[in-house]
Amino acid sequence: MSTVIIVGSQWGDEGKGKIVDIYTEYADDVVRFQGGNNAGHTLVVGNETTVMHIIPSGILHPGKRCLIGNGVVLDPQVFFQEVESIKAKGYFQDEAQLVIDPAVHIIMPYHRAIDIAREKKAGCRKIGTTGRGIGPVYEDKVGRRGIRLGDLVHPQIFAAKLREMLPEKNFLLEKFLGEPPVEEASIYDEYMAYGERLGKYLGNTSKILNDSIDANKNVLFEGAQGTLLDIDHGTYPFVTSSSTVAGGACTGTGVGPCRIDAVVGISKAYVTRVGEGPFPTELKDETGELLRREGHEYGATTGRPRRTGWLDMVALKKGVEINGLTGLALTKLDVLNQLAAIRICTAYRCDGQLLTEFPQDVDVLNGCEPVFDEVPGWRCDISKVTRVADLPSEARDFIKAVEEMSGCPVVLVSVGPRRDQTIQIDNPFR
Ligand code: IMP
Repeated sequence: MSTVIIVGSQWGDEGKGKIVDIYTEYADDVVRFQGGNNAGHTLVVGNETTVMHIIPSGILHPGKRCLIGNGVVLDPQVFFQEVESIKAKGYFQDEAQLVIDPAVHIIMPYHRAIDIAREKKAGCRKIGTTGRGIGPVYEDKVGRRGIRLGDLVHPQIFAAKLREMLPEKNFLLEKFLGEPPVEEASIYDEYMAYGERLGKYLGNTSKILNDSIDANKNVLFEGAQGTLLDIDHGTYPFVTSSSTVAGGACTGTGVGPCRIDAVVGISKAYVTRVGEGPFPTELKDETGELLRREGHEYGATTGRPRRTGWLDMVALKKGVEINGLTGLALTKLDVLNQLAAIRICTAYRCDGQLLTEFPQDVDVLNGCEPVFDEVPGWRCDISKVTRVADLPSEARDFIKAVEEMSGCPVVLVSVGPRRDQTIQIDNPFR
């Protein structure tokens, strides 16, 4: 039996979709534990690219059970679009493959409207959210007034909650944000129809997962976003609204921490960020453009160009510590193919001081200048390499440097988007 958590170690978009897809082969159950359709997990199977926003990426493997844990927030409209699109591609032919916990909170039209209107109103102080209603739905969850999937499948409960909620939401939308109000009857009709169709997926995911673990099965926990976007540990307030770190896998599924065997952090060989907020190693020059071009760094959810920069070990060490990483999966190493020299940030200089720990305060972080080590590049195509021994010595030295500086072994290296462009060094499921 093995239980493995996958988390992003940076600001999301590290290539989790591909790694989850690789590890799903060894798993019986794959579960999402936080976030919603702000995520976009890209999977390339053969010549076909599929982007998953809400359903666990494991759904592309017939016979694997996929679960949406209590920590997730679900937009039913997007969920059903995703269901239809993957069914049309021949996946998810067995409805029993998917289970959703009744405690999942539902994204309502007013959550999306408030998210977008708040960003508009904030102007240059905006967070740069995905506009999917993520912040507002988690606010309602923590404010103990949210609508959960378990409510949606009971028309009377849903109607009462909606009626209670709308005056406050419409007051906010109209009077404070200057937006049109939302209408009760149309929301009720639309969401009741979703409720009827969602009922068949309902199940106690905590119980299912704990029973699976008791039965010596393998469980993969699929994180979304990344450590530096975590609501507690990220670059607050430029974060998402959920617990993206490994601890979130326990609270977001109802599986106890002692039942987890391994935590794999996904890190690109460089760094990207979408949205606003500090980014000490950001490159605004030709090298940054090269990383964006070679790495196809455009948001899988919003299409926004991602900000790019050098690998930041100060931030990565924080990720290793906070998540208790047992292994790192280093992705997109091939994107560095053309570079003669590669930089790795080892510390920050701030107010004349050398910092080796990631500052918690964004204002401090904004004032940080990166201090770099430079290592030689390999200047050749590594996208067909399948064994570490066949990598050029410069690429092996780069991997070794990442291991030494982070204090965490690299268990997998990805050299391209396809499944076969993967070098597995150590399998966390073994
Ligand atoms: P929200 O999650 O839509 O509220 O957005 C909050 C911040 O998290 C913004 O900077 C987003 O760009 C970022 N974010 C949310 N989801 C993702 C993701 O899946 N990948 C990368 N960044 C994300």
